[in-house]
Amino acid sequence: MLESNLFQYTGSTLSCDEVNLNELAVTFGTPLFVTSSKSLIQSHRNFEQAFETLPHFTCYSVKANYNLSVIKTFAELGCGCDVNSGGELYRAMQAGVVPERIIFAGVGKKPEEIAYALSSGVLMLKAESLSELKSISRIAGELSLTASVAIRINPDVTAETHPYITTGDSKEKFGIDEAELPEVFALLRQLPHIRLIGLDMHIGSQIFDPEYYVAATTKLLTILNSAQAMGFSIEFLDIGGGFPVTYDPLKPATPIQRFAEKLIPLLLPAGIKVIFEPGRYFVANASVLLTRILYKKRNHTGKEFFVLDAGMTELIRPALYQSHHEIQTVTLHDKTIIADVVGPVCESSDFFARHRLIGDAAEGELLAVMSSGAYAAVMSSNYNGRLRPAEVLVDGSEVKLVRQRETYEQLVQNEQM
Ligand code: LLP
Repeated sequence: MLESNLFQYTGSTLSCDEVNLNELAVTFGTPLFVTSSKSLIQSHRNFEQAFETLPHFTCYSVKANYNLSVIKTFAELGCGCDVNSGGELYRAMQAGVVPERIIFAGVGKKPEEIAYALSSGVLMLKAESLSELKSISRIAGELSLTASVAIRINPDVTAETHPYITTGDSKEKFGIDEAELPEVFALLRQLPHIRLIGLDMHIGSQIFDPEYYVAATTKLLTILNSAQAMGFSIEFLDIGGGFPVTYDPLKPATPIQRFAEKLIPLLLPAGIKVIFEPGRYFVANASVLLTRILYKKRNHTGKEFFVLDAGMTELIRPALYQSHHEIQTVTLHDKTIIADVVGPVCESSDFFARHRLIGDAAEGELLAVMSSGAYAAVMSSNYNGRLRPAEVLVDGSEVKLVRQRETYEQLVQNEQM
C-alpha cells in the first residue's frame, strides 16, 4: 500500500478522492499531474503527530513540489519553507509564506541570491563553506544588516540510498567538513555581520534506516556542545529532510514513527528547537501523473510496448535514479500483459517501467503513474520541445487547475532572432 489511499478504484475506474480520473483527462487533457489535497494534509498530520512531543519547526522543502498551491497548503498548516535558490524563495513568498519562516539553503548561492535572501529577511541562511561565510558577511555589511546563519555540517555519514541522493558523505560537495570547524568558529567570531544561530545537516533522501540519522545527529549534538561552550548561542538544530516513502509496495518505507522513536529521546535533552525539512514525505504519494496510451506495439521478439503521451520530460526519476513507480490502468482489467511502459522522447532512457506486469489496456486508455508528487513536475523540462503539463488539485469533488499546460508560444517567448 502506498501511504496515500486517496487514489482508489470506484467500481472499475481509478479516482482521486471523489473525482474520476477519466473525467479529469477529458477536461484538462494529458499528461496531467493530479494531486490530492487531503493526501497532502494527511502526510503532514502523520509527520506532526510522530514528532509532536519534540519542540520543532517544520520547514517544507519546496524543491520536492513547488507548485504555489502545494506550498500554500503546507504554509496554512503551519509549516515554514526550506528553499534552495532565489527562485524558490520567490515562489515561497508568492505562495504567501512570510520570509521569517523561510530558511535558505544551497551549496552555491550567488551574491545576488544572498542579497535577495538577506534583504527579504529570511529566518536564516545555511552556509556551506568558509568562503560563503565571508561572502554572506560582506553582503550583509553592504546592506547594513546582520545575517543570521546556520552552518551546514557534513557529518560524513553515508546513508544507504541511491548514490545520487546521498549528501552526508565526505566525498560529496555538501556542507562543511568537521575538520574545518575550528577555523569556521574562529572566523565566525571575527566576521562582523554574521550571527550564528543554527547547526544544520541533510544526509540524503529516501533514507530507510533511522540509524543514519542517529549517527549524524549524535555528531551534530557534540558540535552543538562545543559551540555552546565557545559562547555561541545556537537556537536551532536542523536535521534536514530525507524521510522515506513507499514507491514499491514490495519495499515499504520505514514508518515515520520509527524515526521519531529514535530521534526524540536523542534530541529532547538538548533543549533546542529542532528544524525538519521534509519534502518527499509530504508530497510523493499525493499525486499521480495521468497519461494516455498513444500506441501499443509488439516487436519480433514478442516484446510489448505501451507508448504514452508522458515521458522522462515529465517524470525523470526512472531514467535518472532507476526508481520504481507503480503504474495503474485507470480502468481495471482482468487480463494482464508484460510490457515496457515508455514515453515519446527520443532517448532509450525514456521509460517508466521495463518488463512490467500491467492491465491489458487498449490504445487511447489512461494510465496513472503513481507517487508522482515529489521531484516530478519540478524536474520536468522542455526537452524535445515538450510542453510542461497542467496540474490539478482535488479536494473531495472539487477540482482546481493549479498550473496551466504550457503553450507553444511560451516555448519561444524568451528568445529572439
Ligand atoms: N533539505 C535539503 C537541504 C535538501 O537538499 C533536500 C533534498 C531536502 C531537505 C528534502 O529531502 P526529502 O525530504 O525530499 O528527501 N530528485 C531526487 C531527490 C533529491 C533531493 C535533494 N535534496 C529524487 O527524485 O529522488
